[in-house]
Amino acid sequence: MHVRPINTAAATIPVVVHMEDPEGLTGRDEKQMTVKAEPGLSLLEVCMQHGINIEHACGGVCACSTCHVYVEQGMEQLPEATEAEMDRVEEAPGLQINSRLSCQCLVQGRGPITIRVPAWNRNAVKEVPH
Ligand code: FES
Repeated sequence: MHVRPINTAAATIPVVVHMEDPEGLTGRDEKQMTVKAEPGLSLLEVCMQHGINIEHACGGVCACSTCHVYVEQGMEQLPEATEAEMDRVEEAPGLQINSRLSCQCLVQGRGPITIRVPAWNRNAVKEVPH
């Protein structure tokens, strides 16, 4: 997936990212990061811009469920899930009422948006046989 460079002038929406497995996602042990998002980018892309490497097996085109996150705050500021997203996210382990595919959530509004990245986001990849 092509990740655009951060446009600091446009990145104004605060996004708080809680990580159950911070080492797996960032290589560091901070469990929480607050980043700034540019409107119109997906939560996946915003996280990737800031070194939070959420899995995205299909490249962000709503064809897998590896980019699954929980939206803990600010759901009303994200576009509603499409039927395609709903179908996909149902395949994710640990499905909850606030489950979303981060590649499909285009950031808008004023924030803050708070998400949680489940630990198995990385585990699923580690289990792939070589
Ligand atoms: S990366 Fe595959 S659905 Fe989001």
